[in-house]
Parts: sequence; C-alpha cells; structure tokens
Amino acid sequence: MRYDILLVEDEAVVACDVRHRLERLGYAPARLATNGAEALRMFNERTPDVVLMDIVLDGPMDGIELAGHIRAEAHTPIIYLTGHAAPDILHRAKITEPFGYILKPFEDRELHICIEMAIYKSRVDNDLRAKERWFASTLRSIPDAVVTVDGAGRITYCNDSAERLTHQPRAELLGARFGQSIPLCDALRTDYTDPAALVAPGYGPLHFSDAATLGTPSGSVPVEIRISPLHDANGTDAGAVLVMRDVTERRRAEETLHATLDDLQRAFRQTVSALAATSEKRDPYTAGHQARVAQLACALASRLDLGAHAIEGVRVAAMLHDIGKIHIPSEILAKPTRLSDLEMSIMRMHSEVGHDILREISFPWPVADIVLQHHERLDGSGYPHGLAGDAILPAARIIAVADVVEAMSSHRPYRPARGLGLAFDEIMSGRGARYDAAVVDACQSLFAEGFTFDQPNG
Ligand SMILES: [Fe+2]
Ligand SMILES: [Fe+2]
Repeated sequence: MRYDILLVEDEAVVACDVRHRLERLGYAPARLATNGAEALRMFNERTPDVVLMDIVLDGPMDGIELAGHIRAEAHTPIIYLTGHAAPDILHRAKITEPFGYILKPFEDRELHICIEMAIYKSRVDNDLRAKERWFASTLRSIPDAVVTVDGAGRITYCNDSAERLTHQPRAELLGARFGQSIPLCDALRTDYTDPAALVAPGYGPLHFSDAATLGTPSGSVPVEIRISPLHDANGTDAGAVLVMRDVTERRRAEETLHATLDDLQRAFRQTVSALAATSEKRDPYTAGHQARVAQLACALASRLDLGAHAIEGVRVAAMLHDIGKIHIPSEILAKPTRLSDLEMSIMRMHSEVGHDILREISFPWPVADIVLQHHERLDGSGYPHGLAGDAILPAARIIAVADVVEAMSSHRPYRPARGLGLAFDEIMSGRGARYDAAVVDACQSLFAEGFTFDQPNG
C-alpha cells in the first residue's frame, strides 16, 4: 500500500512506534513532523493521502488548530491519535471533521481499519464533490434559466441565467416566494404563483409552449417554460424545477418568416392570376371563366373535405386550366359559329399545351397533370388520352364538373348562355358515368344552398 502518510507526533518514542506499526501493516514509511509548523510545511510540499496526528504538540499550534489549517487547504482525511478524551478537546476536534479518533493505547488492527476507511471515504467524498462541481458548472453554463422551488413555493436555487433573465441577484431570489419575485403571466391563464402545485405527483414534466411572458424592469420577455416535479432521496415530493427560455429572438424570427411567407403566397397568387388573365386576354368572351371555375371547384373540394392544402391545389389548377388556349388561333377562339371537326381538334389541343406550359413549374400539387386531365371523363370518353376511372386525378374530376357548369351557364361566341338548368341536366345525365357522382352530388347541394358565382359571367 503506497499511501503517502504524514505522521504528526512530538514524542519521538511514540512516533517511532507508530511508524514501525505502519510498516508492519504494509504501509510505506510515513513522513514525520514533530510540530504544527513543520507539518504544515510538509503538507504544502506534497499533499498526503492521510494525516495521523497527535492533538497535543510542541509549539504554539496544537493538532486541532493544525487540522483547521489543513481543512482550509484540502479535503485530506485526518485521524487523531491521542490520549486525550476530555469533552472540551473532543468538541474542538469534532469541528475539524476528522475521519477518525483513536485513543492511545490502540491495536494495530484498529489503526489499519481506520486508515483504510478514511482513505476510502475520502475518495468517495472527492468523487462526490467532483460530480457536484460538474453539476453546478453545468447548471451555471446552460443558457436557460433554472429555478427550483420547495413545496411552499419558495425559491431554493437559481442559476446565473435566471439572475440575468429576471434582472435580480441570486441573494434576493433565494428564499423569496416564486410568485412575488418572478412575475409570470400566461395567455392560457396558468397561475405560476405555486409552480410545485402545477406538477401533479406521478406525472412527467409540463411544457408550456411560449404562451407566457416574464415581467422584468426592462419590459416583458416572452418565455417558454418547463416545470418538472422534484423528489428527495426518499422519492417524496420536494417542490419543482422550472426551466425558462427567453424566446424573444425565436418569436422575431418566426414573425419575419411568417411575413416572408405571406409575401411569397401573395406574389404566388398574383402570378397565378396574372397568368390566368394573360390567357383570357385573347378570348374576351371567356374572361373570368377560369376564376369562376376556380371558385366553384374550391367550394366543391371543400364540400368533399379535401383539406386546405389540396383545396389550394384545386384553386391553382382551376385558375390555369385553360391556359393552353393561348396557343389557339383567335379566329377559332372567337368564332361565332360552331367549330368544324378540324377546328375542334385544334381547340382540344389546349389541354396538352397547358400541360406543356405548366409542367416545368415546381408546384406543390400536380397542377400540370390536373390541367392535362380536365377534359377527361370517367367512362373514358374524354380527351386527350381517354383516361377512365381512378386514372383521373380527383382534382381533375372536380374541375371537370365545375368547368361544364360554368361554361354552359355562360355566353359563348357561338351561342347564348344555356343557363344552369341545362348545365345540371348535363352533369346529372353523366353522374357516375362521365362525371364523378360525389362531385355531382356536391355541386347540386351547393347550388341548392344558394351558391352563386362572384364574378358576372359572359
Ligand atoms: Fe378547357
Ligand atoms: Fe374551361
């Protein structure tokens, strides 16, 4: 056992005896100091693993005073070897927190056990202190404010971030009532005056997303709060720990992001409208057709519970469904009489042209395919590819019905408006065959409830 033992003993015979005993027990030769000053010097030269010390020493410093100096320097275990057991000496010795107190005369075995226990306990204590330091510095270093409260709502701990966040020194926070020192308001009206009461026993941590604000001398700070129950070593409720995070920067970033997103969405809608208007410029008779189809198609999609994202996809595709007509000669578009077969086949190209125009745009919906399919029919009688059944996208089926209803109720170059009645005759006669039955039913119920187009049709 190569422990470094410092023996402090002023009586040469006793010192010699103890050193021999130690060597007999297998320890390395102990360093010997005969008075307090010498012991301190030797201690400072090299910190021993354990100090064996007589209480009554030559010179002005006795063993107990020496122990006080050593305790101030380090946590080295001290074992008193003494013939004195008077209550006043014991009392003074106790204050220096010795690891052992051996009364002379003593057995080798007693000395051995005491040294081994002292060194073992000292190492365990050192490990514990190192862990405590690590925990303390971790809590100090984290940017979140950490505050603990006892069962009565009094603050028992706060880290540096809590001092900074609340603008209050630790000395004022410790022992104060949480609700009085740290004023928190909550949009959800949660009462933080007694945080421990908020965490029900047996439940996990509570997370209050950034609904709370903390009052500080420099204004309100939005904070995110987590509260966890604290338990003592016996598992009994011992209050709560609150972690508060300043979310000012995050709020600002979110607001900027939302504003940017709003701008982008506005620009996107305006771009889609501009594209739709461009394609309608050459065909004044159908001006507003796509916007009206979009209005009805969105109402149908909503009635069919498609969800907000899918409904927006229907709106965009409907706004642009006839964009391919930009490629059709004006004479055909504006022809006041019925189209010949050749003219009709040219006119029918608009679905594919629209697809070609839109397919390179990365919409979050299959807009180009929906536009390509808006004249397809469930029974395969449509164009351009004669798709049938589930091969036709749901949005294309919706736009197909909205397109027919709007077109038939509007004026066309070659005919006056036929009116809603005939439009409904058409979709009802094709219900479940050419047109999706659910869409037709939704359309009927919408008009029965008073649906009207916002923009006047041609
Ligand atoms: Fe069309
Ligand atoms: Fe159309």
